[in-house]
Amino acid sequence: MQYMTTAEIREAYLSYFEGKGCKRMPSSSLIPDDPSLLLTSAGMVQFKPYFLQQKHLDDAYIGTTTSQKCVRTNDIDLIGTDGRHLSFFEMLGNFSFGRYFKKEMCAWALDFSVNVLGLPKDKLYMTVFEDDDETWEIWRNLGVEESHLSRLGEDDNFWRAGPTGPCGPCSEIYYDQGPEVGCGRPDCHPGCDCDRFLEYWNCVFTQYDGQEDGSLKPLPHKNIDTGMGLERIAAIMQGVTSNFDTDILRGLVGVGESLSGKTYESGTEQDDAALRVIADHSRSATFMIADGILPSNEGRGYVLRRLLRRAIMKGQLLGIEGPFMHHYVDKIVEVMGDEYPEIVENRELILGVVGNEEERFGATLRQGRVYLEQALAGMKEGDVLSGDVAFTLHDTYGFPLEVTQEICADEGIAVDTDEFARCMEQQKERARAATQDDAEAAWSTYDGTMSGILEEVGATVFEGYDKNECAATVVALLKDGARVDALAAGEEGAIVLDRTPFYAEMGGQIGDTGTIEGEGFRARVTDTKSPEKGLTVHYVTVEEGSVTVGVAAHAAIEVLRRERIRRNHSATHILHWALRTVLGDHVKQAGSYVAPDRLRFDFAHFEAVTRAQLDEVERIANEKIMEAHPVATYETSLEEAREQGVTALFGEKYGDVVRVVDMDGFSRELCGGTHVRNTAEIGLVKIESEQSVGSNLRRIEAVTSFDALAYLNAEEAELRTLAAALGVRPLEAAGRAISDAEKLKQMESEAKRAKEAAAAGDFKKIAAEAVTTSAAGYPVVIARVDNVSASALRNAWDVVRSQCGDACACVLAGRNADKPLLLAAGTDAAVAAGFNAGAIIKAIAPAIQGGGGGKPTMAQAGGKNAAGIDDALAKAREILL
Ligand code: SER
Repeated sequence: MQYMTTAEIREAYLSYFEGKGCKRMPSSSLIPDDPSLLLTSAGMVQFKPYFLQQKHLDDAYIGTTTSQKCVRTNDIDLIGTDGRHLSFFEMLGNFSFGRYFKKEMCAWALDFSVNVLGLPKDKLYMTVFEDDDETWEIWRNLGVEESHLSRLGEDDNFWRAGPTGPCGPCSEIYYDQGPEVGCGRPDCHPGCDCDRFLEYWNCVFTQYDGQEDGSLKPLPHKNIDTGMGLERIAAIMQGVTSNFDTDILRGLVGVGESLSGKTYESGTEQDDAALRVIADHSRSATFMIADGILPSNEGRGYVLRRLLRRAIMKGQLLGIEGPFMHHYVDKIVEVMGDEYPEIVENRELILGVVGNEEERFGATLRQGRVYLEQALAGMKEGDVLSGDVAFTLHDTYGFPLEVTQEICADEGIAVDTDEFARCMEQQKERARAATQDDAEAAWSTYDGTMSGILEEVGATVFEGYDKNECAATVVALLKDGARVDALAAGEEGAIVLDRTPFYAEMGGQIGDTGTIEGEGFRARVTDTKSPEKGLTVHYVTVEEGSVTVGVAAHAAIEVLRRERIRRNHSATHILHWALRTVLGDHVKQAGSYVAPDRLRFDFAHFEAVTRAQLDEVERIANEKIMEAHPVATYETSLEEAREQGVTALFGEKYGDVVRVVDMDGFSRELCGGTHVRNTAEIGLVKIESEQSVGSNLRRIEAVTSFDALAYLNAEEAELRTLAAALGVRPLEAAGRAISDAEKLKQMESEAKRAKEAAAAGDFKKIAAEAVTTSAAGYPVVIARVDNVSASALRNAWDVVRSQCGDACACVLAGRNADKPLLLAAGTDAAVAAGFNAGAIIKAIAPAIQGGGGGKPTMAQAGGKNAAGIDDALAKAREILL
């Protein structure tokens, strides 16, 4: 067998199955089109509706073939510890939906393995499900020796995606890496825990529908679902036993080597593990961000954050200084960009997101260290750090266990790893309960009603790009989600037509409203949606008569509403273009909402947009509107569109034919929405707000045309009211408001001065009344002065001093809001006579549960207990009189 690169194996596989009649399809996004799944974790995920016969493959093909990008993180803590575990991998698959089955599959699997890859037949071993004699016979007839066949039970050779639903026995193909690789036991066999027999191809014969009671109901069609781990087969073809020694991953390990100056497999096991982790995690992160996932604290965003942080932490462990992830991203784009153009197109975004996370995590890392240092304070050599603390560090601060262990080891402290494992297990339980992960759940929660309708009546013809109304036939009716034959006056339900001018909510554009009427009935359409691709469902209230399946109808949208939607939708494209022009090409639409009265546009960006940038965005957007550019729409192939540089959006799935909305060449986006024919129809766009809606995620809200005018009019009306109140013309209002505010400030400070002068008068009175003679013979004022600040108390002392001559002193106490305050002060002459302000405050402050101090001439204190003020003064009297 000859060395093959990963790219060569991928291409050989896809073209082999293409040659057999399978349709080569692109990998689907890592964000699955399935709410029960967090991330795409197997090749079959995008084909679920085909297995369930809710969708059908073109007759021209016998099946499909893909190289699917997958992310699985259930074993994240094992990644790096060996050469096998990966969070990101590519799965080479071929899938049959009732057209070919076991016989063909086994023959092709053997042919591909032996004749295309050149694997020696005597190194191949096959397993079959325990009672699957048919597959056993098929392998035998293909010339596989009895000694290379074995039967395995449910755990190994029966593949289920969940407790119920389609499932079937599988046959796995193993490659014997030789006795030196494995456990060395003479009875070592495929299925053994060791690495000798490497399973590289899983062929599932999806022929049953598992029932609630555990029984297996045969499916009318028998299907094929196979998955070959590309990294595993690459290891075989490249004569290595670890995924990390294959071309792509070894290249990434090399990036870590040159950044850290360490050499893989010649230092510590910990360094090797770190090099492996970053190589793996940087791939998951790159692909996840390219598909529109951003780091966050929940769902798939959290998975991404964990992967990024683990990689960043490992980088620190290797001694890499400063941000480094961009080196990995660049390498991945270089070696995988040909097969996955989305990582090339989103390179700037990926770099921005990883850079930002590195910066943010730096701060968390510091906080985590403080937390750990606090936990370690008071511990001594030989002590054990609680696993709970290690878990908090792991969970809240993102510290992998081994990093905590390493820091602790420096102090001679061990970590309670058993307790840590218990905490981890509890967290996993919680996570398991919260989200159904991976392929296990792939078949659940799929309601076939809508796909059943689509299957029966075919796709709805959309007439709404150039018509506001059209004649149609009612082809299906629904009430409470179930099919019905009629809907009567007063009832709410849904109507499906064979053709419609109604736009179903999609790509952020809200659904149309309007009426559907016919002989003897009228229904008001309150919303339009597409629960199944290709099918338009009108949500209605029947206002008159009764509508039945099969009748002729006339469907008409609310035209003025649609026109407003159209303007807002085109405005989002112009804003998208303007944001990219002003902020840079990394700006990418992450979501939008286009309603008649407003639009919302979410985009990936790493910092707040400044006022000046926002003004510029608005200015150039309006320039494009006023330049009156024609807007054209046309259909083309996805490949063609990509070549022309058309902006494709995240997570959207395009068929082979895509629709391009082209605004005179300056903005070209793939979009199925309804648009103006000329940018001038938008009239005006006005940005109302810009804010953060998540890390790296910003949101702009804007209005156009009449709503923009209404917005500006409302602002103008406010200005007029303000001007009227100020008694000036509107354009003078700002100047007047500023000068009035100045005046007000001046008046306030004058008022304050007057108040202080009045208070000084009061202090004079208090001083005159409270003055007494100290034991040492100088006059002293000991008094309570409430509702004054600390600075006013000091002013009061100035008043006392001016009243009582050269040698005098005071002890003043009071309550300001809830806070007690104390002040003691004396002239130099009083101090010479024995007065000590600091000592007095020290002695009396405990009465107000306070503390303070100062010099012999002046000392102050604040406290907690206002009820003790009089006690404090009594104590002062005791000391001084
Ligand atoms: N679905 C099977 C797996 O994930 C085969 O593709 O292993």
